[in-house]
Amino acid sequence: MHFSLVDLVADITQNAIEADADLVELEVINTENEFRFLVKDNGKGMTEEEIKEAVDPFNTDGVKHPNRRVGLGLPFLTQTAVVSNGGWEIKSEKGTGTTVSGWFDTGNVDTPPVGDLPGIFRTILMFNSPGEIIIHRRKSINGNEDEYKIIRSEIKDAVGSLEDAGSLVLLGEYLRSLEEE
Ligand SMILES: Nc1ncnc2c1ncn2[C@@H]1O[C@H](COP(=O)(O)OP(=O)(O)O)[C@@H](O)[C@H]1O
Ligand SMILES: [Mg+2]
Repeated sequence: MHFSLVDLVADITQNAIEADADLVELEVINTENEFRFLVKDNGKGMTEEEIKEAVDPFNTDGVKHPNRRVGLGLPFLTQTAVVSNGGWEIKSEKGTGTTVSGWFDTGNVDTPPVGDLPGIFRTILMFNSPGEIIIHRRKSINGNEDEYKIIRSEIKDAVGSLEDAGSLVLLGEYLRSLEEE
């Protein structure tokens, strides 16, 4: 199976939006040998029991993804982290919100490639959600620090609709330029 770490990031961010959060904050941090992300939402939250069920790969409800034999989403994150000697954490409070994080050793042969970050940021900004999405991006490589922040409501004001093809091309170029600086 071919997938990238950014696919995990998109999946976990989508969960936060599906939890009816009106604020979703994503942090993506790279160092020389680590890729780390954190998704924080103020959505419906989970009990301890719900977290256990959610990370169990054999506990898929079979409704949302009828052709899927094992759950992707959270089980996908935990399994990918475990086989590659990375890690994960879920903190949640029912009715208050959830924070999911994952970290990966980018030098481990079993760690998937990071993938196209500006591309996945654009996908995330286009998710159908009435709430705010904030992306914090930080790089700290060989003493060079770089960071930027993307706020969806500001992007919408700047490029207009996030549905129009021309705006999406512009947005893609803008996100790529941020990453290359
Ligand atoms: N951020 C979150 N807030 C509340 N519940 C969540 C969150 N993330 C996951 N869950 C719960 O865990 C379940 C499993 O998530 P996931 O593994 O992504 O599978 P799926 O999204 O396909 O149901 C979700 O259906 C949801 O009930
Ligand atoms: Mg999901």
